[in-house]
Amino acid sequence: MYDFQKKYAEYLADFEGALQAHCKTLSEKNPTLKKAMVYSVELGGKRIRPVLLLAAADMLGVERDDVMPFAVALEMIHTYSLIHDDLPAMDNDDFRRGKPSNHKVFGEAMAILAGDALLNAAYGLCFSQCFKGEKYVRAAKYLSEAAGENGMIAGQAADILWADQEDFSEGQLRYIYENKTGKLIAAPLAIASIIADSRSFFELEEFGKSLGRLFQLTDDILDVTGKFGELGKTIGKDKEEGKLTCVRLYGLEQSQIEADLTVDSCLLFLERLDADTTFLRELVRFVRQRKK
Ligand code: IPE
Ligand code: IPE
Ligand code: MG
Ligand code: MG
Ligand code: MG
Repeated sequence: MYDFQKKYAEYLADFEGALQAHCKTLSEKNPTLKKAMVYSVELGGKRIRPVLLLAAADMLGVERDDVMPFAVALEMIHTYSLIHDDLPAMDNDDFRRGKPSNHKVFGEAMAILAGDALLNAAYGLCFSQCFKGEKYVRAAKYLSEAAGENGMIAGQAADILWADQEDFSEGQLRYIYENKTGKLIAAPLAIASIIADSRSFFELEEFGKSLGRLFQLTDDILDVTGKFGELGKTIGKDKEEGKLTCVRLYGLEQSQIEADLTVDSCLLFLERLDADTTFLRELVRFVRQRKK
């Protein structure tokens, strides 16, 4: 039988090695800043975005070394987004990945700067790949757009601006999901395809968008049903902050149904791929069933 967990652990181990090696190269110019940057990166997390990138690259026959710098850059961007997401001005969350949030340890100013520095370091890493050819430039550009004001940051802005509103629409929820979460979940799949000379680009990107939706549906559900010990972040935070979530829009039961329907659409996109999608299919189930 296919051992999904073993394969995930293998991608993870490879990725952690590259991430640690890259963290060692970060400047010591300001030791406190570096400590704050490395603190959140090394707290771990599921690493689902880099694992997706390595798995999609494998599936498309791309050398792992060719995509690893993008996997590291992507996780650094994701980690910066979490540091800023937890700040008192945003979600005001004291815990992340089972430990005190960055600003609880280093203070707000240093947490903001650590996030800024992680973002810059990520693009430095992307630029370092660009001499290899045009497709590496396109991959870097894709990541910058997915993370920026037309991607994750747009979603985060909407998430903040639409909190506490009495009325909201399904379209608004879709906008938040597509951008704050969907863009950085689709990015690893799109980047793997770009490096594979754009093989199956449309199918992979569409799959990524659906998986991003599933990911945020389960994130919102876990904010209600999860356990702090497993999730590593405060439970019930969305309600406290008046967030527009699927649970608020549909209720818990309907949100679970919506998540099941989104599993189906993820699997449908995978069927259209002319490649061995075993790992990705299992990953869809993993995202649906996750407890953390
Ligand atoms: C949390 O992301 C933020 C969302 C986009 C929902 P993850 O659930 O991937 O967090 P880590 O990286 O595993 O801690
Ligand atoms: C955050 O969404 C998405 C990001 C881009 C960081 P949430 O605010 O729901 O993420 P959690 O629940 O704090 O991890
Ligand atoms: Mg948030
Ligand atoms: Mg949050
Ligand atoms: Mg959440």
